Amino acid sequence: MKAPIRVAVTGAAGQIGYAMIFRLASGEVFGPDQPVILHLIELPQALSALDGVHMELDDCAFPTLAGVVKQSSDDLEAGFADCNWVLCVGSVPRKAGMERGDLVRINGPIFTNTGKAIQAAASKDVRVLVVGNPCNTNCLITMANAPDIPRDRFFAMTRLDQNRAASQLAQKAGEPVSSVKNVAIWGNHSATQYPDFYHATINGKSANDVITDTDWLQKDFIETVQKRGAAVISARGASSAASAANAALDTVKSVIRPTAEGDCCSVAVCSDGSYGIDEGLIFGYPISSDGSKWEILKGWDNNEFAQEKIQATLQELRDERDAVKDLL
Ligand code: NAI
Repeated sequence: MKAPIRVAVTGAAGQIGYAMIFRLASGEVFGPDQPVILHLIELPQALSALDGVHMELDDCAFPTLAGVVKQSSDDLEAGFADCNWVLCVGSVPRKAGMERGDLVRINGPIFTNTGKAIQAAASKDVRVLVVGNPCNTNCLITMANAPDIPRDRFFAMTRLDQNRAASQLAQKAGEPVSSVKNVAIWGNHSATQYPDFYHATINGKSANDVITDTDWLQKDFIETVQKRGAAVISARGASSAASAANAALDTVKSVIRPTAEGDCCSVAVCSDGSYGIDEGLIFGYPISSDGSKWEILKGWDNNEFAQEKIQATLQELRDERDAVKDLL
């Protein structure tokens, strides 16, 4: 057995946390020979619920679970001490009547403290995935408050959108979802995101050539993916949880394992200016990893239709950045 790694999850007793923690403990993500110590972080009022989650973890008797640290969010430095991964799920969800701008102001301060505490206490090789919404801008705030940590360690989650898009394309084509590759989500994890069908492939052929229904691709497909979160809330009465947890784990796996030839992983990362995006924004791009280093896939040709969509999501991210500039 290797030395244990430490993985922190904030909001660990929430819906997504509950759907995520057991899979992290099981060895599915980091491998069957990699022990994991989970750092479970919650608001003080949710710590007793967290005790119940801890009991259930014990009751699974996972051989790869090497320990559990429970921590109140009052002391984030203790929560993140020596952590190799920090998965930031805990935040206030959007309520009826709340605008995106309101949410970013409410959640922003959580992420200033998160960034400071990660820089002060986490392991030197820490990687950070922000799930809590608005995740791109929350990630920007976290990164800005941890200036000593290299920019390539920060990720915000657009993988759920990638998985949703792949499923929609597979169903339309009548092919298994495993045949769909190279699905990029550009920009913000929001209703302005651009799910890119032009570069997606189905059984190695362009999705645009396989699904010849341009009207469906340009309207229904994009809108279905953009509004899928709201559709789940209206059907289930609660926001996506199992699929969100699954996407978070997919993101971690895609960063620490090599990307297959002809495929990509969609994740929002710190822009290096690629594709004309403002440097420093946390923007959804197609990336590939060699298992330790990742890179933004370059040289994709985006047509006029795509450019227009990318500009719209870019503008929304600029507006979000401007709304929190005092936190950066
Ligand atoms: P939830 O409300 O079930 O759980 C959130 C948990 O976070 C609660 O247990 C709460 O006590 C805790 N929490 C709140 N503030 C905290 C803080 N400062 N420190 C530590 N813990 C804190 O919500 P759920 O469904 O688990 O969603 C969590 C977040 O994930 C929400 O912001 C949601 O919008 C976002 N989300 C993001 C998705 C994405 O694709 N990026 C998809 C689905 C949800």
